[in-house]
Amino acid sequence: MIPQVASFTPGEGLFPLDRRARVTGPHAATARDLLGLAPDGDGPGEIVLRLVDDPSLGDEGYTLAVTPEGATIAAAGAAGLRWGVQTLRQLRGPGGVPCCAVRDVPRYAWRGVMIDVARWWRPVSFLRAYVDLLALHKFNVLHLHLTDDQGWRFEVRAHPRLTAVGAQRAESPAGHARDGRFDGTPHGGFYTQRELRDLVAYAAARGVTVVPEIEFPGHSQAAIAACPWLGHPAAEPVRVRTSWGISTHVLNVSDRAAGFARDVLDELCEVFPSRFVHIGGDEVRGDEWATSPEAARRVASAGLSGPAALLGWWGRLLADHLRGLGRRAVAWDDMLDHDPPEDMAIMAWRGVDRVEAVLRAGHDVVAAPHTHTYLDYAESDGPGEPVSIAGPLPLETVYGYDAGDRVLGMQAQLWGEYLPTRERFDYNAFPRLCAVAEAAWSSGRDLGDFTRRLTAHLPLLDGLGVGYRRPHHEGAPHVHL
Ligand code: ACM
Repeated sequence: MIPQVASFTPGEGLFPLDRRARVTGPHAATARDLLGLAPDGDGPGEIVLRLVDDPSLGDEGYTLAVTPEGATIAAAGAAGLRWGVQTLRQLRGPGGVPCCAVRDVPRYAWRGVMIDVARWWRPVSFLRAYVDLLALHKFNVLHLHLTDDQGWRFEVRAHPRLTAVGAQRAESPAGHARDGRFDGTPHGGFYTQRELRDLVAYAAARGVTVVPEIEFPGHSQAAIAACPWLGHPAAEPVRVRTSWGISTHVLNVSDRAAGFARDVLDELCEVFPSRFVHIGGDEVRGDEWATSPEAARRVASAGLSGPAALLGWWGRLLADHLRGLGRRAVAWDDMLDHDPPEDMAIMAWRGVDRVEAVLRAGHDVVAAPHTHTYLDYAESDGPGEPVSIAGPLPLETVYGYDAGDRVLGMQAQLWGEYLPTRERFDYNAFPRLCAVAEAAWSSGRDLGDFTRRLTAHLPLLDGLGVGYRRPHHEGAPHVHL
């Protein structure tokens, strides 16, 4: 099983689970679906789902008892029942499920995976498949990176140009960005609010919350290309960025830009019910603010120390608006240096020391250090690895990361630049996502044991059509981009 369960007691015999098994209790339809059972199965064999009042299981813990006659899953709520079903699914072998008793609770409340749909638009079917894979590994957050310099993917009714213009770019890099070659092929796509609502419901039924991210005030070139009044008048008109890397163009600090941000968050919160909303805040280049008379006026009127402090001004404005909508802002850790409001959660990406810095400052932190959780990094420095932004980040390093007991949780990142296709994405994501899943869910850590369980787990991924990287393969020839 991956992630490893908190306690496992083997029993005698086997429950020969087949398609006809009866399922009873709350959320029976989801359980049947996840296990591939007939909708009207009436035995032999029974799976009983039961809600119990056991505070020691928390919101997401469960117990699972398997006997030759069937399985019983007990939990305090829907989340625990679903994770119990996922464990049953993983325990199932060709002859059935071995009899056993399991008791299991997660280590962290936030067990996330970030998928970048800004650099490359990805079909909804891709996102659904990943929701399924996340749920199989007991991840409970899908963080969708919806906007960036290279594309805006979220339909906003109040500002239709964001997708009419901002969702398309003229071409994309071919090969590594440093080579300066382009593919000459337009790329684009966006998600309608209806598509995203459906995705949110699909994920919720599987225990996964979709946390949306809109990048403010940097990584915003696509928005500025669509709505030039968001940018700086002194700058040349911009197109949706076609190269990777960070744009120097950032949102201005006008009342109109602030109103735009509120419009976007209002519509975002109508589509995504998640308690947390990600507002970006990373890698904001101050060049334009430093020379803008409007920025100087804002610095003066808001009593700020200088143009760099406008990042904090943006952060507080966005967090205040989200608070009014009953939500909480989460931002990349760059925001920590700019006086974020107390209730802002921080995603610490710039290193393990940033996790500590956020904890010292008293904010909720999601540990996402690039040194351990950026799965877009190459796994090895072998000559056959596909083009990637950085690396190596071996499976063992990912598995070995312990974020400590005080964090809200941890998260894997899959930035999209060099992962344009499902095939490339799978290759970087798996099996390292298995390691993150275990680091986020399980309290103990045993690399040897994990490696043995991973070998037994890979056929399940094969059956689901996941094009994972074979563990310990030394970078055999692979198709380069
Ligand atoms: C980031 O990698 N810029 C959050």
